[in-house]
Amino acid sequence: METITRTKIADLLKSKSFGEKVNVKGWVRTRRGSKMVNFIALNDGSTINNVQIVVDVEKLGEEFLKPITTGACISVNGVLVESQGKDQSAEIQATEIQIYGTADPQTYPLQKKGHSVEFLREIAHLRPRTNTFGAVFRIRHHMAMAIHRFFHDRGFFYFHTPIITASDCEGAGQMFQVTTKNLYDLKKDENGSILYDDDFFGKQTSLTVSGQLEGELAAMALGAIYTFGPTFRAENSNTPRHLAEFWMIEPEIAFYEIEENMQLAEDFIKYCIQWAIDNCMEDIQFLNGARKHLYKNEETDDLIERLNFILDNKFIRLPYTEGVRILEEAVAKGHKFEFPIFWGADLASEHERYLVEKHFKCPVILTDYPKEIKSFYMKQNEDGKTVRAMDVLFPKIGEIIGGSQREEDYDKLYKRAEEMDIPMKDIWWYLDTRRFGTAPHSGFGLGFERLLLFVTGMANIRDVIPFPRTPNNAEF
Ligand code: 4AD
Ligand code: MG
Repeated sequence: METITRTKIADLLKSKSFGEKVNVKGWVRTRRGSKMVNFIALNDGSTINNVQIVVDVEKLGEEFLKPITTGACISVNGVLVESQGKDQSAEIQATEIQIYGTADPQTYPLQKKGHSVEFLREIAHLRPRTNTFGAVFRIRHHMAMAIHRFFHDRGFFYFHTPIITASDCEGAGQMFQVTTKNLYDLKKDENGSILYDDDFFGKQTSLTVSGQLEGELAAMALGAIYTFGPTFRAENSNTPRHLAEFWMIEPEIAFYEIEENMQLAEDFIKYCIQWAIDNCMEDIQFLNGARKHLYKNEETDDLIERLNFILDNKFIRLPYTEGVRILEEAVAKGHKFEFPIFWGADLASEHERYLVEKHFKCPVILTDYPKEIKSFYMKQNEDGKTVRAMDVLFPKIGEIIGGSQREEDYDKLYKRAEEMDIPMKDIWWYLDTRRFGTAPHSGFGLGFERLLLFVTGMANIRDVIPFPRTPNNAEF
């Protein structure tokens, strides 16, 4: 076969160099046609759009074309011609085809369109080849780019925090242990407690639930940083919004009070959504149509309206106490929630979504939560009851961001850690920031997959990460 430099389909479809010899490589979506002429829809992942390959059957031979079935991988030389079809500008008149790999129609699972998302999760090794998941994963990439751009342009430094840790940042105790110990022959003390002095790190270690504590150390030196990495939570919650392994973005900023932190969070989310509109419109438009068939019983709004709605509205700022009052009023008027609501209760997603979707019809930043339901490091308010927490609540999602101003006073922080039984041997280094040059500071964490749920319109968090990890599920 003649050697011609490969063109990606995304570039080819924009090209106007008709008459030129080109090469494309990709995976066959369909092949159809007559005894005279065949049409191959080819996709290489660079765009949601396929390029049409027109094949003169007599020239290449009917027998030769037979193994070119859905899923096969081919390389095509041909001439770029102006398309007669209305949706496309360019197509290729094939002169030579090389078959890289066939895909037996008897066993290749992606034969027809319209597979259920549940089925596609079982073949997560192949689902990126579907239009839907191609679109989702391209958008995922673009959102990661937007995040780095946003912070870089504002002078934040990307800081890498460890994945293996000996401290539990959120204090929730839902951590995966990391060990090289022989689990069948554990060394124990006289009380039967496991000893870790013979373990790899000489102490008990886990996968991190958040990079925040180390992020704060960096903010106290570099001024403004962000982390963007995987985090792990062994919470046994089988919901459409929870993963055991998810990615989090955590900015941390010296000298920020909670008001500035809230504004940063709002600007940040809006920037990401604007980026999606500017860079991913073809994929978003595709998903807007596709997802109507993907999830049964899921009411689907218009995705583009949904995104513009966020850009057009200022997020409401509301104290937790006010939020609870509104929810209690709703209950008094007859609204039924599954979980009870009262001052001091942790809000369930149904409560968060009521505030956002029914009451305000706008994203809400809820602040000043009771200290009992929040982490030890949050700055305590004068009232002695609440802390300067801020959760950003979104339509369809509920909590998308959790953050706070941090307690910068050594004594108050020490006392709170003690009250919440956080072992000093694990966080002495964190407390040191409050002993040496402490400063007011704030930060937050955005769940990357929750943002992607919102932007792609997918209804289950398992469908916005390539290989989801959830209870009883770690295949691939
Ligand atoms: O509210 P969270 O637990 O906050 C923290 O971890 C803080 N250390 C962040 C900070 O202040 N630097 O988690 C932050 C966000 C949540 O708002 C949610 O979007 C996401 O992380 N998240 C999850 N996403 C998917 N699966 C889970 N199991 C998640 N748990 C939290
Ligand atoms: Mg939270």
